[in-house]
Amino acid sequence: MNVDSWLKKARTRISALDAELLLLFVLQERDRIFLMTHLEMRLADADVLLLDKLIEMREQGMPLAYISGEKEFYGRVFQVNQHVLIPRPDSETIIDIAKRLDPRIFLGKVLDVGTGSGVLAITLSLEMPMARVSASDIERDALFVASKNAISLGARVDFLESNLLKRFPKDEKFDLIVANLPYVDIGWPWRSKELEWEPGSALYAGDGGTEIIKKFMTEAVGRTRYVILECDPCQHKTMIKFSKNLGFVHIETRGFQLVFSYKV
Ligand SMILES: C[S@@+](CC[C@H](N)C(=O)[O-])C[C@H]1O[C@@H](n2cnc3c(N)ncnc32)[C@H](O)[C@@H]1O
Repeated sequence: MNVDSWLKKARTRISALDAELLLLFVLQERDRIFLMTHLEMRLADADVLLLDKLIEMREQGMPLAYISGEKEFYGRVFQVNQHVLIPRPDSETIIDIAKRLDPRIFLGKVLDVGTGSGVLAITLSLEMPMARVSASDIERDALFVASKNAISLGARVDFLESNLLKRFPKDEKFDLIVANLPYVDIGWPWRSKELEWEPGSALYAGDGGTEIIKKFMTEAVGRTRYVILECDPCQHKTMIKFSKNLGFVHIETRGFQLVFSYKV
């Protein structure tokens, strides 16, 4: 079977884009142009068998990133598995905000709380090589993935297993803390089906999804000059009011992100 006939057959079962991405993954190629210029190329029987298995997994709803084991974030490829959330393009805004928030951050101390695959900490460290970047997560399996990503991408990040800020010394201060913690309410009717494949501990929180982020903001009082917090836009009003009562000044909302400053 050649590339052209495999793609035609696969498109009857999964989307055309997914079919192309699965084929590129098995052929260990990155560029979709490769497929268009190799339509006549014969596929090895072993590859066809493997592709059949992968299509089945995709048909069952497994996200492509878990099948391929990787996901691009801010132009770099990160390894992912089912212990970590698949990084979302929406979270790339956190990096853009951090880069233009305050020049002192480039030479300062940055912390990523709930690092998952490490995308935020690692990207911040690579985009701001002079900053000292730490990252924490409550899940050891996630920290393992994050550490592997830091090594393969050549980023210097200190990882710590911690429930929010509990294991950080009380007097340790940061210039910036970024946090993309669980904020999904299990009852939201618009939850997509693919979320079922991702770890619940990375997604769900009580109190309309705000339980963990409220705890985090409470612990961040007096510990950092800035906070960039991701949460759903339907939670923004609540979180701005809650954080204001703690002494944070809301300075910007951009996409899913809330930016706060605090006088330390
Ligand atoms: C929504 S995922 C985000 C992962 C990553 N920051 C990203 O943007 O792709 C949330 C992460 O927070 C971690 N987490 C959940 N509760 C936590 C807690 N109390 N303290 C620290 N990390 C926590 C989860 O294990 C998960 O890795």
